[in-house]
Amino acid sequence: MVENDNGQEQENEERYRGPWGHIIRGMWRSPLGLFGVALTTISITLMLVGVVIDQLGLIHNPYIGVITFMILPGGMITGLLIIPLAAFLRRRQYYKYGVERDHLHINLSDHRHRKFVVGFVALTVINIAILAVIGYEGYHFTDSPYFCGVVCHKVMEPEYTRYLRSPHVRVACVECHIGPGADWFVRAKISGLRQVMAVMTDSFSKPIPAPVTHLRPARDTCEECHWPEKFHGKKVKSFTHFTNQNQATPEVNEIALHIGGRNPQTNVFEGIHWHVSNDVKVSYLAVDDKRTKIAKVQVVRPDGSQEEFVNKSIEIPEGKQLQWRVMDCVDCHNRPTHVYDMPEERVDFGLLSKRINPEIPGIREDSLLVINREYATRDEAKTKMIEHLVGLQGLRGKEQLDKYEIDIRKAGEYLVETYLVNVWPEMNIAWGTYPVHLGHQFAEQGYGCFRCHDEEHVSDKGGTITQDCGLCHDEPQ
Ligand code: HEC
Ligand code: HEC
Ligand code: HEC
Ligand code: HEC
Ligand code: HEC
Repeated sequence: MVENDNGQEQENEERYRGPWGHIIRGMWRSPLGLFGVALTTISITLMLVGVVIDQLGLIHNPYIGVITFMILPGGMITGLLIIPLAAFLRRRQYYKYGVERDHLHINLSDHRHRKFVVGFVALTVINIAILAVIGYEGYHFTDSPYFCGVVCHKVMEPEYTRYLRSPHVRVACVECHIGPGADWFVRAKISGLRQVMAVMTDSFSKPIPAPVTHLRPARDTCEECHWPEKFHGKKVKSFTHFTNQNQATPEVNEIALHIGGRNPQTNVFEGIHWHVSNDVKVSYLAVDDKRTKIAKVQVVRPDGSQEEFVNKSIEIPEGKQLQWRVMDCVDCHNRPTHVYDMPEERVDFGLLSKRINPEIPGIREDSLLVINREYATRDEAKTKMIEHLVGLQGLRGKEQLDKYEIDIRKAGEYLVETYLVNVWPEMNIAWGTYPVHLGHQFAEQGYGCFRCHDEEHVSDKGGTITQDCGLCHDEPQ
């Protein structure tokens, strides 16, 4: 295998190439070396093709990004590591065959060795430059909502779908989930790797549990764009409800929410955002992972006074490590962007926008039955929902069905549409899986303001956290 370095015929060639040339050339002949060089070359070539496709937007396919920015750089680095390894093994082999040690050391006064070193350095610089470009592009790629929402399609589809319909659609996932700073970036990429593994082995929880325990504190994320000083006055919100008895004219509740902020007359913070104003600290001790059973609430007020409110009927389990949590934005805005609808809301919106014809007798009741039905998969819902609605309406008489069939089918289409952006049976996400804390519509499940504002948390001074309706909202003027 090894060429005879002292052989007569090879004398000329030997002088020309030198022992390092042999190592390099020899390396080519070892399967390992050949593999390293091939892997590096192929990876670089495909990576460049991938970058060009990505930059020109020729093909929209997230897997091209995954391959270009995540798999191929791995191939390139592996190849680059194999090459010196192969050279090292070759050199050891040459030793064994008795090549003089001097020849095998780099000697900078020998011009052939110099040429080799210069070539080596140049190639290294080029390789580092390529990796830097790929790293930079890859960083943007893995930080894009497109990557988060589409690459992990099955897992993130619900969050991504709701995100696309939210006020934060122009805010990248990473602005809330990672935030600024290198340490959170590294933590996120490490836990991201773990998540990719979980997806590949199908070992993630369905649904993804909320609250997210390791979410970055809102102070570092939300407050980059919103801050308590900015809140002021009242916000009027109206809620429209129909009833099965009256599908035509809605009942409208208008409330003026006391958003709060600094009162210019008294200079004190008041209203709903009082909890997160600078000189106030509200902390609480929840006994469950969902943070819905709150045993104790502590307040530090601007004047430095403290008060602790305790709900004696909520037992603190022994042996469980419980942690106090300082209240921040996410304790009320737990769904700032992954906001799921409720079935009544959607059906009532359908009636209001006339996508569901309110003249059809019983259509509200039947729509609610159909939309709340459990389907095994989204595909099943897609094929069966309309027929179910037609079936239910058929029970109300053939005459009605004949008269309104087109409109009933249109209503069915609307229901399918609404179902498909809210329910994912494959991820165990049904209506109401992710309740909101904002307000008190989920009070029975322990969600919302009434977790604390229930008059059942009592301090030793006898004070309670009030449920007085006028505290949070009143009638708009
Ligand atoms: C405006 C800030 C914000 C943006 C933008 C955002 N998220 Fe979230 N996300 C949150 C908050 C807050 C929670 C925690 C909810 C909780 O703890 O109850 C969350 C929770 C999640 C969860 C856990 C499941 C759930 O619904 O609670 C996933 C998964 C998720 N986000 C993915 C994404 C993806 C993917 C994107 C981008 C397409 C994104 N998020 C964009 C704020 C955001
Ligand atoms: C990168 C900037 C940015 C970040 C970070 C951000 N938001 Fe927003 N937020 C916005 C923008 C922009 C709007 C839309 C304003 C509008 O529609 O007028 C908005 C709107 C809102 C609204 C009003 C929604 C409505 O229905 O009108 C709430 C509430 C809110 N954000 C809460 C949060 C919370 C909570 C977080 C942290 C989890 C957060 N935001 C993080 C930029 C941001
Ligand atoms: C005690 C609960 C609570 C906390 C804590 C809280 N908010 Fe709110 N926030 C509300 C309620 C209630 C509303 C009004 C309801 C709505 O807009 O849907 C609101 C409204 C808003 C709005 C819309 C304001 C407008 O004028 O339209 C923004 C933006 C917002 N909050 C951001 C934040 C941010 C950022 C934080 C953390 C610094 C925060 N909130 C903390 C309950 C809270
Ligand atoms: C973790 C417990 C907790 C939750 C959840 C909570 N609050 Fe409070 N809230 C308090 C405490 C404690 C006080 C102060 C009570 C006192 O000073 O006697 C307070 C005070 C208030 C005040 C009066 C602030 C002022 O002007 O002094 C308003 C308004 C308010 N809360 C609205 C809300 C709304 C709206 C929600 C739900 C979106 C909510 N709170 C959720 C604990 C909570
Ligand atoms: C601790 C604060 C707080 C208290 C106390 C409170 N509310 Fe509310 N309420 C809210 C918030 C916040 C919303 C808005 C929810 C949203 O933005 O979706 C709301 C919404 C509502 C709505 C409109 C919801 C709908 O679907 O029509 C009604 C009606 C209402 N409250 C009635 C009451 C009544 C009656 C009381 C007194 C027993 C009361 N609230 C006490 C915070 C409170």
